[in-house]
Amino acid sequence: MTRLWEKGEPLDPKVLAYTTGDDPELDARLVPHDVRASIAHASMLRERGYLSAADLSAIAGGLEALAAEHARGEWSITPEEEDVHTALEGRLEARIGEPARRIHLGRSRNDQVLAAIRLYLLHEIERLAAAGERTLAALDRLVVRDGAIALPGYTHLQRAMPSTVELWAGGVRAEIAEDLASLRRVSVRVSRNPLGSAAGYGVPEVSIDRESTRRALGFQSTQEPVTAVQLSRGKPEAAVLFELALLLEDCARLAADVCLYATAEFGFVRLAPRITTGSSMMPQKRNPDLWELVRADAAALPAALQEVLAIRHGLPSGYHRDLQRLKGALFRGIDRAEAVLEVLPVGIDGIAFDEARCKAALDPSLTATAAANRIVAAEGIPFRDAYRRAAADPGSWEPVRDAAAP
Ligand code: ARG
Repeated sequence: MTRLWEKGEPLDPKVLAYTTGDDPELDARLVPHDVRASIAHASMLRERGYLSAADLSAIAGGLEALAAEHARGEWSITPEEEDVHTALEGRLEARIGEPARRIHLGRSRNDQVLAAIRLYLLHEIERLAAAGERTLAALDRLVVRDGAIALPGYTHLQRAMPSTVELWAGGVRAEIAEDLASLRRVSVRVSRNPLGSAAGYGVPEVSIDRESTRRALGFQSTQEPVTAVQLSRGKPEAAVLFELALLLEDCARLAADVCLYATAEFGFVRLAPRITTGSSMMPQKRNPDLWELVRADAAALPAALQEVLAIRHGLPSGYHRDLQRLKGALFRGIDRAEAVLEVLPVGIDGIAFDEARCKAALDPSLTATAAANRIVAAEGIPFRDAYRRAAADPGSWEPVRDAAAP
């Protein structure tokens, strides 16, 4: 395999290995997207008269076959091939010969990689949002099962006011739904056609049609001017990671509650055996490892976001190889988010609230605020005065009524 840029001088193998890095593995997920973008580019070249109909059909057919074979695990990108773009062009040439040598007119790997990543991101945003919706559905099922059970609401981890499982789960549900809506809105930032910017400065000598590739790929707009394209690399990545960081943070707070509520001391929830793990030494243990790891995995998102921002920081305009390293951080963050969202519904379905234990925690002090509010309603005195009276008179507090949610 000859690298696309090879001009006869040998490259030190260590330099090749270092600069290639993890691209052969990382780029595997970009194969279908790079194929799609390449076919759109070739179709545009055909429209503009740079390819014959026979060339285009050989190119498109060859690329589609390569994508299908890759999906079936019949080939993978080798370290010598460097990246997905080189692998596909090289393998296309091995397959169809001369027409493959025409496809790189008017493009560069610099705009190719952006098109592939953006198509991948648009696809991932939908997948992640759909996975998040399965978590919402699991929270809904929990509310149907246990929603009416009363339990204390806490501030500072001190019992504060009477609440219910429905309110507890409903807050998390509402925030996750908001996170998913924000994640979907990021697709506006992602959905811009980079193709035709080529290495970063366009291709004035070639009569390319950026609108044609935009339409073919379903991008909402074409990114202009061409010099904006490389400046923007990493921004859609950062935006997706930011939204995922907020989403996983909500999942982690849910997880932290579950870990606390599952302690013998709280005992608010029982975890089904199928979602707990054991100890190698202590036979009696049932551990909430799943929930602890959800809490820990949430850390991967701000870490990945920080890596993306730090790689971008201080770069001059134009393409720099630094940008290649954005992919590792992006994919790591996305994979971790996907893993969490995949397991979360299983975890939520394995939670059962213990009504008796929740009830036992409903200390009369939880109604002190209600007592003050009752005094205001009955006597019309200022809240501050009623507050003092309720504080001084625990006798005015009442037992929390059953399912006495506010
Ligand atoms: N693998 C490269 C990346 O992700 C593709 C672009 C390489 N371009 C270059 N001029 N070396 O950035």
